Amino acid sequence: MTQHPAQQAVTIVTGAAGGVGSAVVRALVAAGGKVVAEDLDPAVGALASDDVAVVVGDVAEESTAEDAVATAVGRFGALTGLVNNAARFNMSPISETGADLWDALMRTNVRGAFLHIKAAEDALAESRGAVVNTGSMSGLIGMPDQILYGATKGAVHQLTRMAAIELAPKGIRVNAVAPGHIETGFMDDFLPPTGEVRDTVLTDIRHSHPIGRSSTPEEVAAAIAFLLSPAAGTITGVILPVDGGYTTA
Ligand SMILES: NC(=O)c1ccc[n+]([C@@H]2O[C@H](COP(=O)([O-])OP(=O)(O)OC[C@H]3O[C@@H](n4cnc5c(N)ncnc54)[C@H](O)[C@@H]3O)[C@@H](O)[C@H]2O)c1
Repeated sequence: MTQHPAQQAVTIVTGAAGGVGSAVVRALVAAGGKVVAEDLDPAVGALASDDVAVVVGDVAEESTAEDAVATAVGRFGALTGLVNNAARFNMSPISETGADLWDALMRTNVRGAFLHIKAAEDALAESRGAVVNTGSMSGLIGMPDQILYGATKGAVHQLTRMAAIELAPKGIRVNAVAPGHIETGFMDDFLPPTGEVRDTVLTDIRHSHPIGRSSTPEEVAAAIAFLLSPAAGTITGVILPVDGGYTTA
């Protein structure tokens, strides 16, 4: 069920303007691959090159997913990989988590990933390709104030297992990474921009990981690139923690 080693890798990466997404794009291009970089943020345009096509759109719109698949096949001749990485974060207690916010995060984090798997299925079956979803340690364990974000990531993990089993007969592998804290701007809306409180919170988060630090975007990107690669040819349905031992502890 493995992708032919000589096949040109062509991968859609959602959330490509962000910290992890842009690191995944860099890793895949450095390995000789082509990428369709997709994001809601037009800043993703800065990644455009001979190796990188850009799609600007909302990940949860069917038309965005279809546009990304058509761009991969039209410009690079195939689709061999899909990285469902776009997401929104939230931190609030149950009592302050509104219904509209619930729908918005479920829409981006879960519906967006589902619609991309759906749109990519035929092209990935053609190439015997692979999907990697970005989950989270917040989808594996309990913690306060992350009921909504954690529920979306738990759903992403289950999407991974269900799609892995359904699509295995078509030669498509589906896995997820479940990162702990990563050094990106993902939590910035929930922290003061600078100062002692921010520094203390981030230091505490880093030290809460048994290895004593957070992951870099490049470390998470390397795990994603491995799961996409033919070297992971018999790995499917796996949720791989990239969390410095957080969920093991
Ligand atoms: N940073 C962390 O600590 C951490 C921890 C665990 C998991 N993750 C996961 O890693 C992934 C990448 O996060 P990051 O840290 O790079 O964050 P980031 O904020 O740097 O990147 C997220 C990207 O998703 C895009 N995005 C958001 N909503 C979108 C939408 N509706 N349509 C299209 N694009 C949209 C944003 O514009 C942004 O570029 C996410 O799935 C996140 O849940 C992050």
